[in-house]
Amino acid sequence: QFPACVRIVEVGARDGLQNEAAVTSQDKIELINALANAGLNDIEAGAFVSPKWVPQMADSRDVINALNLPNVNLSALTPNLRGAEAAHQVGIKEFAIFTAASEAFCQKNINCSIDESIDRFKEVMDFAKENNIRVRGYVSCVMGCPYQGDVDYADVLKVSQRLLDLGCYEISLGDTIGVGTAKKVDELLDLLLQHIDKSKLAVHFHDTYGQALTNIYTALMRGISTVDSAVAGLGGCPYAKGASGNVATEDVVYLLQGLGIEHGIDLERLAKAGWAICSALNKQPVSKVSLALKNT
Ligand code: HMG
Ligand code: MG
Repeated sequence: QFPACVRIVEVGARDGLQNEAAVTSQDKIELINALANAGLNDIEAGAFVSPKWVPQMADSRDVINALNLPNVNLSALTPNLRGAEAAHQVGIKEFAIFTAASEAFCQKNINCSIDESIDRFKEVMDFAKENNIRVRGYVSCVMGCPYQGDVDYADVLKVSQRLLDLGCYEISLGDTIGVGTAKKVDELLDLLLQHIDKSKLAVHFHDTYGQALTNIYTALMRGISTVDSAVAGLGGCPYAKGASGNVATEDVVYLLQGLGIEHGIDLERLAKAGWAICSALNKQPVSKVSLALKNT
């Protein structure tokens, strides 16, 4: 059963740009404003992570400080208490904590075990509760891991439940390296939906093997109603070599439009935002919809 309405979480300014060296803070500010202007209400605007690990996100404070978008839910990655405090200082009302269903990936990405990550998140969660901030939980490698290979669906369930028990309002299921297929998405959701309500699950699919839209369609059919995507299909994770961008927001919007599912986004403005950031990056959008619109 398809949802009547889908909430898109735009991650282009974070996931999309965390791998891109040649972007100025001004480019990021213009991108986020253009996305808001296209009707995106949930925008991941940056990451309060170690600048030694991801230098591209070192300007998140300046970027977020320069925004004036009171009606947009701006979120940011907060791997530890230090990140949470920094995000709170610039007025972020939604934190995102992130761990993985694979030990090996967790170690490479945040330099600790899954157990240790949960311990760190307890502090973040306490701080969030004190300050009335909601917290989203990411689980990476739900369809496979660049280091470990196959990942057990049971491990995805276990870590998702731990994040929900901590107090996350939603779990975003990350196919970090884009290896998922429709069948795998169905199998994973067969298990998860026995234990977790569909309203608490989001899908975050990278498009490395060109399967992201099909995988999203599969999740929509199961009633999932929150989808993460990046304008122009930007992105990739610095700790997942070869992983390509997130599914393009333009392509998701076109899919939703075709299904008659509400989304609240102006596709033309969105595509323009994609072309603008891509021109700053000196490349073309990966979004097929965006390329098609340009040629009509
Ligand atoms: P660590 O080295 O184990 O921790 O890093 P540490 O406490 O020893 O800190 C190392 C240095 O970073 C220290 O500086 C700290 O002060 C500093 P030094 O003393 O050496 O000068 N530091 C910080 N600076 C700013 N903000 C902070 C912060 N914390 C420590 N919050 C840590 C542990 C988690 C910090 C590190 O591993 C890290 O930042 N990792 C982030 C990696 C990352 O951002 N990955 C990409 C995002 S995840 C993703 O893309 C997947 C997702 O899209 C879903 C999917 O697709 O699957 C979400
Ligand atoms: Mg990602």
